Amino acid sequence: MKLFIDTGSLKDIEKLVPIGIIDGITTNPSLLAKEEEDHRQILKRICDLVRGPVSAEVVATDAEGMVREGRDLAAIDEHIVVKVPFGPEGLKACGRLRADGHRVNVTLVFSAAQALLAAKVGASYVSPFVGRVDDIASDGMRLIEEIVEIFDNYDFATEVLVASARSPMHVVQAARMGADICTCPATVIEALFKHPLTDIGLERFLKDWEKAQAVKA
Ligand code: E4P
Repeated sequence: MKLFIDTGSLKDIEKLVPIGIIDGITTNPSLLAKEEEDHRQILKRICDLVRGPVSAEVVATDAEGMVREGRDLAAIDEHIVVKVPFGPEGLKACGRLRADGHRVNVTLVFSAAQALLAAKVGASYVSPFVGRVDDIASDGMRLIEEIVEIFDNYDFATEVLVASARSPMHVVQAARMGADICTCPATVIEALFKHPLTDIGLERFLKDWEKAQAVKA
């Protein structure tokens, strides 16, 4: 499973990309709004650092505007994936941007029915928001199970991009369900590294080694 960082922060990206586990980045208007730099400049710098898919979202609400903005975003760098919101206008824009040869991520997906419609117009990625589904006392990961099953039934090329992942267990469950990608904040990715037995084990190995060296000296 590919792992993306859901961020607009270059600091997050500079910290995690050199480890070799990051395959791409997702951004959204709320994340980019937190950054001081112009969004086009940030997106370009992210693409230069990651050299993998970088989702950049349109803010227009009509298909015409989304296509115009999408083309403009795609011109920033070859790694840009145009993100459009789910809905009739978003799907219309998705079809047109795909016909232009751009990759498209259909975002704000909250049901299997929506994911099916996005796949039918050739979306490169669908982004079901698991954390926000959990927030309304429903089961976000059940949604991923359903989408993976539907896409497998029909061999859709659309990749399932698990979004709004809020905990390491979301990542593990996404991988067990066969999702293609999971995107999460840097804090969640950092939490994936942690296990107390790793820390205790390392401490013990180093202590034993030091003791042995002292005896031999
Ligand atoms: C996905 O592409 C979105 O940017 C993101 O995962 C939303 O996450 P949130 O629900 O934690 O804001």
